[in-house]
Amino acid sequence: MSTPLSSAETIDFGPLRIRYDERVLRPRPWTTEQSLWAADLVATAPEGRILELCAGAGQIGLLTVSVAPRPLLCVDADRVACDYARRNADEAGLGPLVEVRQGRLEEALDDDERFAVVIADPPWVPRDEIGRFPEDPVTAIDGGPDGLDLARACLRVAARHLLPGGSVILQVGTRPQVDRLTAEPWPGLRLAEVRELDGGVLVRLDRTA
Ligand SMILES: C[S@@+](CC[C@H](N)C(=O)[O-])C[C@H]1O[C@@H](n2cnc3c(N)ncnc32)[C@H](O)[C@@H]1O
Repeated sequence: MSTPLSSAETIDFGPLRIRYDERVLRPRPWTTEQSLWAADLVATAPEGRILELCAGAGQIGLLTVSVAPRPLLCVDADRVACDYARRNADEAGLGPLVEVRQGRLEEALDDDERFAVVIADPPWVPRDEIGRFPEDPVTAIDGGPDGLDLARACLRVAARHLLPGGSVILQVGTRPQVDRLTAEPWPGLRLAEVRELDGGVLVRLDRTA
């Protein structure tokens, strides 16, 4: 059964009009940078679908495929977020390109599914700091003790499900988080670029052969 979404608010996300409400994270305008970086990568990526992990209302992946059309699979554990992602895809005219799958990212994919580009926007706030964001749903921001529990899970999924030559663009909160994460071994992935932005940090890792 889908969730009633009648009280949705809207926000412009690039050229897209995105619906959401207080049960999901409010779309953050700076994250259009993640969409557009992913769209740039699509031009040289291998053939294949795009995967968006922790999609929320879906706007980051939707903007990517509105610029660089490819089939998109959006994954989120939250049912309300998934309902918004479906509705936002339909209202943007992108419904035929988009599948939304509700489930924990650690379990949502079949073993043989492969993707050209992975967009990942996990909760990244360290648990003892989530009180700084009382308006945000806890499940959308709580990244565990160092804020990186879900980021690590996203990279494990990317390492397993990216096609050779594909890339993951992961969002975290701070440069020290990037340094901590990329100091850990990620077999099959190679650090390519870090972009520090007002609001968060994006890191690109490429799949090695
Ligand atoms: C930081 S929010 C990002 C949402 C959206 N990308 C945005 O920018 O508004 C993180 C999202 O991860 C989802 N999430 C948390 N844990 C998850 C898990 N284990 N598997 C899949 N999704 C999860 C939450 O429901 C939430 O929608």
